[in-house]
Amino acid sequence: MSKKINFAIIGCGRIAQRHAEQINKFGFLKAVCDIEVNKAQDLGQKYNATAYQSIEELLLKEKNIDVVSICTPNGLHAEHTIKALNAGNHVLCEKPMAIKVYDCGEMIKAAERNNKRLFIVKQNRFNPPVVAVKEAIDKGVFGTIYSIQLSCFWNRNFDYYKNSWKGTKELDGGTLFTQFSHFIDLIYWMIGDIKNVYSFKDNFGHKNIIEFEDTGVIALKFYSGALGTINYTVNSYGKNMEGSLTIFGEKGTVKIGGQYLNELEYQNIENFKFSDLPEGNPAYNYGQYQGSMSNHYLVYENLIDVLTNGGTISTNSYEGLKTVEIIDKIYTSAQKSNLLS
Ligand SMILES: NC(=O)c1ccc[n+]([C@@H]2O[C@H](COP(=O)([O-])OP(=O)(O)OC[C@H]3O[C@@H](n4cnc5c(N)ncnc54)[C@H](O)[C@@H]3O)[C@@H](O)[C@H]2O)c1
Repeated sequence: MSKKINFAIIGCGRIAQRHAEQINKFGFLKAVCDIEVNKAQDLGQKYNATAYQSIEELLLKEKNIDVVSICTPNGLHAEHTIKALNAGNHVLCEKPMAIKVYDCGEMIKAAERNNKRLFIVKQNRFNPPVVAVKEAIDKGVFGTIYSIQLSCFWNRNFDYYKNSWKGTKELDGGTLFTQFSHFIDLIYWMIGDIKNVYSFKDNFGHKNIIEFEDTGVIALKFYSGALGTINYTVNSYGKNMEGSLTIFGEKGTVKIGGQYLNELEYQNIENFKFSDLPEGNPAYNYGQYQGSMSNHYLVYENLIDVLTNGGTISTNSYEGLKTVEIIDKIYTSAQKSNLLS
């Protein structure tokens, strides 16, 4: 594929704006779709793309699309991804890949059957300290990894969930899916797959606002033998406080911190020092709240590299499934613990 790539976006809400900006740099935005017609029209007008109100109509009429970017609520990713793949398009799907492991399997099958690529957005993998620490782990700089601590202390207030799919079991799925699936992906990517999980969850500050937990604590055992803990909440008072990962290895300790794993906060490593890490990008600012690092241009750069130069997908669908499987293990364990308590 040497020509410029044609894209469509499904779901024209907040994150779709970031996708459209990148598509405009890397290719052509040909069509957009939202069930709220004014949202599709606004985005379509801005980028000279045809606006649709249904994905079926878009896929039927737009025959020159190469890649469909799925920016709809979590619970709709599987349905929309499978439709776009079956219509003969590659798909870039926002995180989380889906909220059910079964659905991830169906998405993978649809990609394989149609021989199309399925990319999952996990832009935190591109945060400079994350890239550096992952490379050092792979080179054995830390020796055996003994244990890790993941802290996810963010704030999401009533206004964030008001009149939204966010906070609903069916379309959001849980706090680990919408707020912290990036961080679960990072521990899977950096430390490995998780064998055993023991967890508790509760809703302290968002009763009658969200249909699931706002807080959880988790003990983990990785297949490698490493132990881990995760402490997550959207009750950090007034604002996001921290998104951090501390790694204790045989030959060194490191903490990647900041609000979204964007700063190297601590290091003490045998014969090794991280220095001159590139400045990261700021967080996405959605007005009333902040999200992860604004790295979508790196996600699109990778997509173009894969489709035009035979590059490797930075987060493929099997890895996307792993995050969903780990979250499913955590929630299943928490349900059992809550029954016992
Ligand atoms: N990678 C990141 O950092 C990041 C950041 C924010 C959101 N996200 C993910 O992006 C997705 C969208 O989140 P958002 O914050 O933009 O939500 P949003 O509510 O602002 O946008 C979602 C849009 O999808 C539309 N929609 C709903 N059902 C539809 C359907 N059947 N067909 C077409 N459009 C439909 C809605 O009308 C809405 O405009 C979520 O999966 C979220 O987890 C990722």
